[in-house]
Amino acid sequence: MDYLLNYDEMAPKFKKLGMPIPKRELIKTASQIEGIRQVGIINNKILDLVANNIKVGMSTEEIDNLVYNATKEYGAIPACLGFEGFPKSCCTSINDQVCHGIPSSKVFLKAGDIINVDCTTILNGYYADASRMFQMGLINEEADKLIRVTKEALELALKVLKPYCRLGDIGYAIEHHVKQNGFSVVHEIGGHGVGLDFHEEPYVAHFGKRDTGLVLFPGMVFTIEPMINTGTRKVFLDASNNWTIYTMDGGLSAQVEHTVVITEDGFEILAN
Ligand code: MF3
Ligand code: CO
Ligand code: CO
Repeated sequence: MDYLLNYDEMAPKFKKLGMPIPKRELIKTASQIEGIRQVGIINNKILDLVANNIKVGMSTEEIDNLVYNATKEYGAIPACLGFEGFPKSCCTSINDQVCHGIPSSKVFLKAGDIINVDCTTILNGYYADASRMFQMGLINEEADKLIRVTKEALELALKVLKPYCRLGDIGYAIEHHVKQNGFSVVHEIGGHGVGLDFHEEPYVAHFGKRDTGLVLFPGMVFTIEPMINTGTRKVFLDASNNWTIYTMDGGLSAQVEHTVVITEDGFEILAN
């Protein structure tokens, strides 16, 4: 299907119904989607490498070195490095760090920690963005449940993805499942369009009401990346580095992220 032709045919119908529709420039061509898929494959291989090497006693800078070196070997660019002044090639967020943890030679992984590693890679001008959770040795029951519920929330969000679903359907699916399990959804940071740039429109909230918000068209590429807390959803920014977000109450936080494309009959994961 030519997604742009489809957009030109379908967008006026939704507009007539008074529904919010994406700008035409948010619809990717088949060759752009192929470019994002290719960089998504590399981004996944980099995360696989992290998965195969991450262990207790390692510093988060060692993780960053793995990411940087692997990215270069693929002839690609780590999108995080130098992005708005970010100093490293990936984000490593441990325990009460919600996101944007900065890899450091002074931070060592210890048994019982949970950590998110978030990688974004650029190849031929295309971007793919994904993150995974890792557990260090044995973790307690609460941490284990948090990781499980966070992954389930993302899976449930994927289930609603099809042409002309609404952004609010995604947020609802995530928030409903998380609340049912006694956890909370971070509101301040969301998913985002991605592919030709690191962060594009639309903003993808991880909470919301069904049948509300932007109508999603085939050819749209974006991330879903829920951040889930065991305690309060409230967070604060580390003023010492202006990057890292922490839970306000010191509770645990987990996150997983996929880059997806809406297709003619559903969706495809381009990076995970
Ligand atoms: N990868 C993050 C996201 O999911 C963004 C990290 S920006 C950085 O959007 F500069 F901190 F790397
Ligand atoms: Co992202
Ligand atoms: Co990311």
